[in-house]
Amino acid sequence: MSSPHNSAEIGDIAERVLLPGDPVRAKVIAKNFLDEVKQYTEIRNIYGFTGKYKGVPVSIQSTGMGIPSFSIYVHELIHVYGAKKLIRIGTCGGMHKDLNLREVLIAQGASTDSSIVERTFGGAINFSLLADFDLLSKSVINARNLNIPVKVGNVLCTDRFYNDYNDANGTYSSGGLTLNQKMIQHGILAVEMESAALYLLAAAAQVQALAIFTVSDHVIKKEYTTAEERETDFNDMVKVALETVIQK
Ligand code: HPA
Repeated sequence: MSSPHNSAEIGDIAERVLLPGDPVRAKVIAKNFLDEVKQYTEIRNIYGFTGKYKGVPVSIQSTGMGIPSFSIYVHELIHVYGAKKLIRIGTCGGMHKDLNLREVLIAQGASTDSSIVERTFGGAINFSLLADFDLLSKSVINARNLNIPVKVGNVLCTDRFYNDYNDANGTYSSGGLTLNQKMIQHGILAVEMESAALYLLAAAAQVQALAIFTVSDHVIKKEYTTAEERETDFNDMVKVALETVIQK
């Protein structure tokens, strides 16, 4: 038996899964970091691989971009294939001035402009979207042991890559501040597009989840990395994610 969007058979996907958005990146990570790699799906060119990292079975499942695409793959990973530890690895846009290009950021919490949380709780509760504490604390220790500096904090998970949150006359300016300025004032470090769905789906199913990012651009400082830089920058984050996902 497979699922509507994944041709893996039950048992083909490990309980420990890394989740990059980009299928090609999934392939490169599987090739460069895992042993005994097998590809289990290529439906829609959204590739998935299982291999071993330091002898432990790990899958790398690409998800596409944004909450709707991501949620389809992660729902099926959890509810059809039995995934138990899920770590998103992706890029984010820095917002806070202290965040620099190429840095690794771990999302302790996710704030969102998506309606998924509101809809889940009938609008009655602003449910806090949190990283799994065990994965979060292990990832920070693993990064330290690998000499990889990380920042930890709250991120904005947005539904729109192109929005007007930086615009003084934007729909969402508040108290004389743009929405971006207001969020930064409240400690939001960066913006990305999937973590809220990951933390919500994981909470609902009581499985462990964490989102780790590399800062690929800075939306306030208007700085950008090149595609080649992103390729090498990604490795630090992958190492932290792999060391964390295989731990007991
Ligand atoms: N916005 C949203 N998601 C992102 C960004 C961004 O600037 N950079 C990487 N992912």
